[in-house]
Amino acid sequence: MKKDLVLGIDIGGSGVKGAIVDLKKGDFKGDRLRIPTPSSHTPQSILDAIGQIVDEFKWKGLIGCGFPGVIRSQIIETAANLGGKNFIGVNLAEQIGLACGCEAWVLNDADAAGLAETTYGAGRVSNGVVVMLTVGTGIGVSMFTDGVLVPNLEFGHLRMRDKLTGKNISAEKLCSDAARKRGDLTWKAWAQRFNKYLQYLYSLCWPDLIIIGGGVASKSEKFLKYLDVNCDIEIAKLENRAGIIGAALAASRNAHSGILRRVRNT
Ligand code: BGC
Repeated sequence: MKKDLVLGIDIGGSGVKGAIVDLKKGDFKGDRLRIPTPSSHTPQSILDAIGQIVDEFKWKGLIGCGFPGVIRSQIIETAANLGGKNFIGVNLAEQIGLACGCEAWVLNDADAAGLAETTYGAGRVSNGVVVMLTVGTGIGVSMFTDGVLVPNLEFGHLRMRDKLTGKNISAEKLCSDAARKRGDLTWKAWAQRFNKYLQYLYSLCWPDLIIIGGGVASKSEKFLKYLDVNCDIEIAKLENRAGIIGAALAASRNAHSGILRRVRNT
């Protein structure tokens, strides 16, 4: 098995997606496979979907997997949009290893996407502070300072005021792509809300560059013109491939640093 090839998997609220990633190129080798996220949202149903991807690719090597929640020492700590408590305390990397017979590494999905963009995509040449957003079912946020990741930031859950109810709620409930669809918002109305969120985030992190990825990245012509923040804004170059590519990259880095084996042995 070539060590530049890693199976990347991105677990999302609507689909579990996988592709073999060529780390030399920073891109897929062949097609991506998407399995609709099982509605039961249990660890077993997600493992079954991952198993289908592994079987389809006849994969026997390293697996990197992005998960929409906080991951510490390979243990899932939160899963706001995926089965809530079902996943808490689960060592998904170990479970994937047992189910598929492959070594695996799991990290937050936005951290994965940010790693890919800062290595191969929009943030490749940026020094300073880069914030990457994945805007889809939720809002994922990762932050890099001179290329170094601060993991599990969860700034998609900053509180913002919902004008309709007057209550302060999680920003992703107001500004994610799912919120745009749920509220049947025009792109302009959504972008104005999203811009408030960006300004809020800016006032807390003072980034030099904000990269916008996730589902909305392919529709940038509809909303980019309404955004006004005091730093550079770029659309993710790897679009919705970033999560898969970054997960593969993280697995490779951790396998080669020996961390993966140490975590497996504890
Ligand atoms: C989760 C984050 C995740 C983001 C994007 C949020 O609900 O809390 O961990 O990165 O969704 O999937």
